[in-house]
Amino acid sequence: MTTPIPQDSSVSWTTATRYADFAIREARGVSDAYERLSLAVSRDPDLLALLDTLPAAKRQPNLLFGVVRLLGGPVENPAEFHEYVTATWPAIAAELRVRSTQTNEPGRCAALLPVLAELPQPLALIEVGASAGLCLYPDRYAYRYGDQLLGSGAPVLDCALTGRPPPTARPEVIWRAGLDLNPLDVTDPADVAWLDALIWPEHRHRRTRLRDAAAVATAEPPLLVQGDLVDDLPDLAARAPDGATLVVFHTSVLYQVPASRRRAFADVVRALPGHWVANEDPDVLPHDDLPEPPAALHNLLALDGRPLAWTRSHGQAMAWFG
Ligand SMILES: C[S@@+](CC[C@H](N)C(=O)[O-])C[C@H]1O[C@@H](n2cnc3c(N)ncnc32)[C@H](O)[C@@H]1O
Repeated sequence: MTTPIPQDSSVSWTTATRYADFAIREARGVSDAYERLSLAVSRDPDLLALLDTLPAAKRQPNLLFGVVRLLGGPVENPAEFHEYVTATWPAIAAELRVRSTQTNEPGRCAALLPVLAELPQPLALIEVGASAGLCLYPDRYAYRYGDQLLGSGAPVLDCALTGRPPPTARPEVIWRAGLDLNPLDVTDPADVAWLDALIWPEHRHRRTRLRDAAAVATAEPPLLVQGDLVDDLPDLAARAPDGATLVVFHTSVLYQVPASRRRAFADVVRALPGHWVANEDPDVLPHDDLPEPPAALHNLLALDGRPLAWTRSHGQAMAWFG
């Protein structure tokens, strides 16, 4: 696989590489629009120069495309995107500086459920990096593992599960809380609009799922605490009720956390009672003896640091290790 890198020395190689890499490793086969757009940005000296006026963390493809969608700009046609971004840059830059990618994907509950259902019930859940907290309702959503339906109502979370039979019961959750540097409020239309803007253009089923999950959460809004997953987790864990298994979990969060803080987090969570469920990029935490990862990008599901399964990023597939 070749990654097209602009040879023009007047543009930033690093930002260009990031966009070319995103196009090929993340968007290809998942979003034609974002593959096209990201490749175009990687070869666009004007846009790269604008992006390079921002801190590195604010140059992410997902963040730029989400902000443009939020502002109502075009993301299907690279020429129109170029025109819009260059004409609207001050407003775009202002949003990029204050926002971060907080995609909240309730579909990930389909990959958490098989582990949660096997723990001693009932559960007290803490999600670190919870965004709007939509993954805190694994007991409320319905699931379809192959042709096996579990639960009823909406959303129905589809997951292609291999390696073990699907769960036959949902967990009993008696307490749920989330911790996030910047919790989003599922009852605030502006926050839901941002979550919607972060969903990739072609993913209509994920927009429907977001609306359905937001309705579940709005009926009983989660306790969400603003704080850091290292510094503030022990205090939140101390608020969990007795008589339930405490489960601290996280999905697609640690890639946003520096390596030294990830190690500190692992130490904090291991010192707590209960269990730790991680669903993360396999590179963010050290693991020995992992099976060969599948070709497509996958997360690694682990219980108390023990790797169990590969999962797809939106919970649409899960493969238990043999
Ligand atoms: C990509 S979102 C994932 C949200 C949710 N876990 C999901 O899977 O749908 C990552 C979230 O982690 C949060 N986050 C990043 N670093 C954090 C930290 N040090 N402490 C708490 N939350 C953090 C971000 O604010 C963001 O809401």
